[in-house]
This record gives sequence, structure tokens and C-alpha cells, in this order.
Amino acid sequence: MADDDYDYLFKIVIIGDSGTGKSCLLSRFTSDEFSLESKSTIGVEFATKSMDIGDHKIKAQIWDTSGQERYRAITGAYYRGAVGALLVYDITRQSSFENVDHWLKELREHADNNITLMLVGNKSDLAESGRQVSVDAAKEYASDSEMLFFETSALDSSNVDVAFRTVFERVYEVVPKAVAQDAEGAAGPGQNTIKLKPPMSAAEDAHSEKSQGGGCC
Ligand code: GTP
Ligand code: MG
Repeated sequence: MADDDYDYLFKIVIIGDSGTGKSCLLSRFTSDEFSLESKSTIGVEFATKSMDIGDHKIKAQIWDTSGQERYRAITGAYYRGAVGALLVYDITRQSSFENVDHWLKELREHADNNITLMLVGNKSDLAESGRQVSVDAAKEYASDSEMLFFETSALDSSNVDVAFRTVFERVYEVVPKAVAQDAEGAAGPGQNTIKLKPPMSAAEDAHSEKSQGGGCC
């Protein structure tokens, strides 16, 4: 579809410790690419993907930044306008699961209260040889914190599409109603479009429709 031919634009953010596979998940979902040769993301990248949900065309705008403090962009701008978040840990690294607490706290400080949250345990392809975080522990944590939950593998693609799609479907269930109420009485095409603030200029510099510059995959 043409760039502006959509009913809703939803911004979601990916957060989590460095090396958990955030950038690989993004590139797997938006361009079906994966790389084992990874560099930590510098600044902010984002990519978009179009999808149909219900009777509407959704433009998914997914933002990615480094889990490393020194490479991160301004936190407020990163979270502003986000309607969903993926909190990613690595199932082979217990510390990345423990740090989900930290990422949740940051979200609660900077993001909208109604943001849709999904806990994502990535690298499920390594489960047999290297699992450190059990599915049960992750499910319990997700349920206590009112998060959706999936285990994924950016490497072998398992659950990547369904995880992202589930977030957008949940956002779609929650967000448009509020917007529709605000826009009551308005008519004509595009009235239900949620125009989010454009990415900050630092991101824009590196941006193309699929901005992957400087990232891993
Ligand atoms: P930062 O940008 O530093 O926060 O890291 P990141 O979370 O974006 O991690 P990145 O996507 O760069 O991936 C880190 C490393 O994990 C890379 O070597 C990837 O190839 C690898 N990786 C990512 N996803 C998977 C996966 O699903 N399975 C396996 N086996 N490796 C993965
Ligand atoms: Mg990255």
C-alpha cells in the first residue's frame, strides 16, 4: 500500500537488555532477515510494516534502541506516543529475565498507562542446550504484570509474526474505541487515523522505510 494509505498508525517500542535479540526480531518481522553478526544498536532505529486487522489497514511503526545505556537515545522521545511495547529477554540468560523489572519500571515512568505490554523470551532455538529461564516462570511473571507472553526465535522465525501481530491486535482492540469517541461526529476518510509524532530527527537521519543502519541485522 502507499505510504499514507492506512487507517491507523501504531507505534510500538522494543526494549530489553543488550544482546537479547531486539534488532533481530525487528528485522525478522519487517524484512524476514536475520544475522548472526551483530552490533549493538546505536541511537534509535525504526521500521514499518503494513497489515490488515479487522476491516482496517494498520501501519505498524516499530522502534528499536540499544539495551546499553551509553548507546541509548533520549528516553522520553523514545516512549512518546507508543501504544505497545515488547519487553525482550534471552531465555539462555537469567540476568536478562531479572532485568525485565528494570525495563518495566522505565516503561511505567515514561510510557502511557494504557500501553499494551508483551513479555518476549527470545532465542527459543537454543532451549534444549541452554535454557536458563523456564516457560512457567516467565508465564507467571507475565501474568502478574498483566503482560502478554511469547517465546520466539528470530533465528528460526518461530512465533515472531504471531507475537508482533498479537500486540497489534490487542492495541487495535483497545485504542481505536477511545479515538473513535474523541472523534465523535467527525466524518470522512482518515478521521480515525492516529497520527503519531514523527520520529525525532536523529532517527530520521538514519531512516528509510526500513531503517536498519547501524544495527545488527
Ligand atoms: P542491543 O542493540 O545491544 O540492545 O542488542 P539487541 O537486543 O538488539 O540484540 P541483537 O538483535 O543485536 O542480537 C544479539 C545477538 O543475538 C546476535 O548475535 C544475534 O545473531 C543473536 N540472536 C538474536 N536473536 C536470536 C535468536 O532468536 N536465536 C539465536 N540463537 N541467536 C539470536
Ligand atoms: Mg539492537
